[in-house]
Amino acid sequence: MTRIVWDFDDVDAAATPQAHLDYLERTEAFPPMAAVREHTYAALPPGRGVDVGCGRGRAVADLTALGRPAVGADRSDAMVRSARERFPACEYTTADATALPFEDESLDWYRSERTYLHIADPLRALAEARRVLRPGGTAVVADQDFDSTVMASSDPALTRAVVAALTDSMANGHAGTRMPALFAEAGFTDVTVQALPLAFSSLAPVAPLLIEPAGAAAVAAGAVSEDEVRAWRRGLERLDRQGTFVVAMTMFVTTGRRP
Ligand SMILES: C[S@@+](CC[C@H](N)C(=O)[O-])C[C@H]1O[C@@H](n2cnc3c(N)ncnc32)[C@H](O)[C@@H]1O
Repeated sequence: MTRIVWDFDDVDAAATPQAHLDYLERTEAFPPMAAVREHTYAALPPGRGVDVGCGRGRAVADLTALGRPAVGADRSDAMVRSARERFPACEYTTADATALPFEDESLDWYRSERTYLHIADPLRALAEARRVLRPGGTAVVADQDFDSTVMASSDPALTRAVVAALTDSMANGHAGTRMPALFAEAGFTDVTVQALPLAFSSLAPVAPLLIEPAGAAAVAAGAVSEDEVRAWRRGLERLDRQGTFVVAMTMFVTTGRRP
């Protein structure tokens, strides 16, 4: 069984941090992910800002090239090292979302993509976002709600159980749909949310990123047996061979203004 690569908590200590790094690079390359990034960039005002949970640094490099000075912050040293190697001209720092190394009211924008899924206390992180933003500054946070994952399957009940186990295995698996209410609770105004689809019609790209981690999470949670996961996986492979495989989930992009 493939190990779960969704858990970024231990990326620095992991025996194979390369698996996490490869995972991010593959995900980043999907056209629907590029569309999400473009959407977040368009929502940001001019000026200097931070990309929190910057991972391998793609958004920081894009935003810097677009003339918006950006600093990437990530709590993982391995991610920050990798971002620096990839984009040496850009600025990165190792920092947790709840303790950012910026002065109060010093930034024009705050961006975070697929990171709040891994933050157990999102309100604390949003309070930190509010602290570092100047009045009128913009926060943009993009995450899935993993329960929005749907796929063709000959066993929908088993699929539902596997998806639920994956969502529940994450620190904040409903981040996407929780974020507008959390923005409001953290004191942001003019809160908007846009739902963007992520859809794939072949198994290969999503197998290591979604299907295998979901199966592993479901077995680890005791929700299904290894045999059931193997049968489920064979069912998906059959659909794929027939050209009828489809999986989709929703990404939610929430924006808000710091009053
Ligand atoms: C799924 S990756 C997304 C990376 C990047 N935003 C992207 O879209 O490619 C999640 C990232 O969030 C980072 N992360 C998780 N929890 C964090 C926290 N509390 N503070 C800062 N970074 C965090 C992880 O180290 C990882 O690099």
